[in-house]
Amino acid sequence: MKTVELAKSKGLRGEIIPAPDKSISHRAVMFASMAEGRSVVKNFLRAEDPLSTVRAFRMLGIAVTENASGEVVIDGKGLRGFSEPSDVIDCGNSGTTIRLISGMLAGNDFFTVLTGDESLRQRPMARVMDPLKKMGALITARKGGQYPPLAICGGSLKPMDYKMPIASAQVKSCLILAGLYAEGTTVIVEPRKSRDHTERMLAAMGADIKVEGLAVHIRGNPRLNAIDLQVPGDFSSAAFFIAAALIVPNSEIIIRGVGINPGRTGLLQVLDGMGASVKVENRKEVSGEPIADLICSTAGNLKAVKIGPDQVPSLIDEFPIICILAGLAEGTTEIRGAEELRVKESDRIKAMAAELTKIGLTVREYPDGIDITGGSVFIGTDVESYGDHRIAMSLSIAGLVSRGNMKVNAASCVDISFPGFYDKLRALEV
Ligand code: S3P
Repeated sequence: MKTVELAKSKGLRGEIIPAPDKSISHRAVMFASMAEGRSVVKNFLRAEDPLSTVRAFRMLGIAVTENASGEVVIDGKGLRGFSEPSDVIDCGNSGTTIRLISGMLAGNDFFTVLTGDESLRQRPMARVMDPLKKMGALITARKGGQYPPLAICGGSLKPMDYKMPIASAQVKSCLILAGLYAEGTTVIVEPRKSRDHTERMLAAMGADIKVEGLAVHIRGNPRLNAIDLQVPGDFSSAAFFIAAALIVPNSEIIIRGVGINPGRTGLLQVLDGMGASVKVENRKEVSGEPIADLICSTAGNLKAVKIGPDQVPSLIDEFPIICILAGLAEGTTEIRGAEELRVKESDRIKAMAAELTKIGLTVREYPDGIDITGGSVFIGTDVESYGDHRIAMSLSIAGLVSRGNMKVNAASCVDISFPGFYDKLRALEV
């Protein structure tokens, strides 16, 4: 596993295009597989996580190929066109793959086993298994139904009304997908709004889906139309560059074509509160998702902020990079209501608390969050990624403003969501 060394930056200038959106790339392949006919996906994210999804659908009998223009082509076979895989499906590091596929497979009349890497095999699955069982699914997993591998014996599903205990787009999407296989209307209610890429894409494909506040109504057995879809830039990948431009002196960058779905952009409100604004220009809509260019330049002194449970779903993946910004802000930043961070690709609260301490900050961990007292200079030292792509990229950005070089160990995990991250960063250096 490679170690990446970062030195203090003299400034970042220029334009970049971030990695294509990971959530939307997964969904494009999954949903196109259930459609009738050929779908074409432009700007698909060729990173480890979405490639786990491609492999999974090939194992389920779907042709996923590439055309001469490098676009991904999926020949959908309809809702019930999948075939039983002859081996265990390995979802790699991808929570989105394992959780969303579970919903689809629960309604398909064959046997599947889903597993993943060491991190994925420690991530909670009861949150999808329990509601799927209520719909009549035969599904079981390790440690009494908690952790992968999962074994699914698909069959007919009943619709249900379900109140989700946690805000999670993965759980919501899994249940929406299971709802496609149930006779009648399934209603799923979230406690807080999570990203809605699933709802938007299924609506564009002709599903009978209705969103009313926090409730999603989905009617079973639709005929899904194939689509041509352009994947926007990933706001969560852009976030590392936004932060870098704000904290490195003498910086001004433009990040082009970034998805600004409101379910994803909570970081922009946090930055406003910190006194660092990002200009959002050239707003347009592409394939049912809002996109824009983001103009970011060196900010003045950052101020500490308070982040509570209502904001958490829209910035869930930005926590590690917000920790770095908080480390430079004057005062103590308080983050609460973020217990979900403990069950991401790593325990992100524990991991960031440990690494921020190593680089010289004072932090206090809580079960559902953290306090970070900022304002000090980061000490460049050896830091760990915990095999978590977002931790690796966040600590790398910290290295751009540290005293002494930052050595990020086990940094190859950035390929999970953002191959080319370090090349893009280097290209912006003045
Ligand atoms: C995702 C949803 C979020 C997010 C993850 C991707 C998705 O997870 O953290 O990176 O694609 O739906 P939860 O929905 O479990 O919070």
